Amino acid sequence: MSLLFTPRKIGNVELQNRFVNSATYEGMAKETGAVGDELIKRYEKLAKGGVSLIISGHMFVHSSGKANKYQIGIHSDEMIPGLKRLAETVHRNGGKIAFQLAHGGRQTTKDLIGQTPLGPSAKGRDPVYFIKPREMTEDDIIEVILSFGEAAKRAAAAGADVIQLHAAHGFLINEFLSPFFNHRTNSWGGSEENRFRFLKEVLRKVKTMVPEGFPILIKMSTNDYTPKQGITPSLAARYAGWLAKLGIDGLELSCGTMNYSYMNVCRGDVPLNELLKSLAWWKKPMGRIMIGNLAGKYDLEEGYNLEAAKMIKPVLGNTPLFLVGGMRTVSHMEEVLENGHTDFISMSRPFIREPFLVKKIKEGKMDKVSCVSCNKCMAAVVNDIPIYCYSTGFPK
Ligand SMILES: Cc1cc2nc3c(=O)[nH]c(=O)nc-3n(C[C@H](O)[C@H](O)[C@H](O)COP(=O)(O)O)c2cc1C
Repeated sequence: MSLLFTPRKIGNVELQNRFVNSATYEGMAKETGAVGDELIKRYEKLAKGGVSLIISGHMFVHSSGKANKYQIGIHSDEMIPGLKRLAETVHRNGGKIAFQLAHGGRQTTKDLIGQTPLGPSAKGRDPVYFIKPREMTEDDIIEVILSFGEAAKRAAAAGADVIQLHAAHGFLINEFLSPFFNHRTNSWGGSEENRFRFLKEVLRKVKTMVPEGFPILIKMSTNDYTPKQGITPSLAARYAGWLAKLGIDGLELSCGTMNYSYMNVCRGDVPLNELLKSLAWWKKPMGRIMIGNLAGKYDLEEGYNLEAAKMIKPVLGNTPLFLVGGMRTVSHMEEVLENGHTDFISMSRPFIREPFLVKKIKEGKMDKVSCVSCNKCMAAVVNDIPIYCYSTGFPK
């Protein structure tokens, strides 16, 4: 039997196969952050489709960390009934669900959160959000760490099977980890150990707020692709080793930041017209040039985080690795599993197009996903519309 359909445990939870739905912001929550019917339908389909673990879109743990208009919230107890409904829907249909806990850091807007976005350092404006963040005080840092803990408690209370901490893509935890974003010289910066401290403290707090053995995963970038050096694969390998020692239950490897290198997060086509729609009229001429310049430079390479994963896998010991980014053909997925480069195959865009993908692969009906990486789903995020496969015109 193909390794793809063999079970594997993470913490005390057994996953029925090696397919994972990587966290995908849905654009389907209410503006308050509450779960509604459209989200329930999406998760119902995914669970029916046979993926072993559905990692939710990033959920904001604190009102200062909301990154998208229709993002799910886990920042207050009022969110729990909707989150419970989400977990129950997945369980009823035979699946398991991880809640991805996140703080947007500087990758948000004043309009969305009603204050200047926060970051480890007040480093200059970026080309996407045009934000100069406010440097977090010691009190801000403690408050956010506590809010991750409270969110973890809510996740367990709502019935999530797993928690994933979002430490990738330029959001707050990634910002602390990265020498490009973190210029602090006190105990939260200045050295690799100090830049790692925020994630370490979040992890410690989260562990105290969930039952013993509750699986905790981390999603981390292996390369920030920032104009000056941020996280590199070798730094990511050091962080990975420290995380394994701290007893995490799995590490998912991704890359890129939303503010400096979003086309590295999601390689493939550059959906120029769709991305331009999100810009104010006076930004469109410059946007057309800047976004247009990206076209053709980010062609999707199968498994584009594989080389970094090969560097990181040996330091992880028995801690499972989740590989995401451009996993598209079944033979390649089998090969990387058999060669021991990864333990799980994570995908995002392919499941937007085909929630029933795993079932079809199991039945031998497909050897390659249909997603063409047009990235119109990614453009939907910045246009504040729900994410569907707009390439197929779905849904009507
Ligand atoms: C529409 C969309 C929303 C995403 N939202 C998230 C998110 O909430 N959290 C996260 O960690 N990654 C998010 N990602 C990144 C994916 O999880 C994944 O890392 C990336 O798309 C590469 O995988 P793929 O080639 O299988 O799509 C998102 C990607 C897309 C296309």
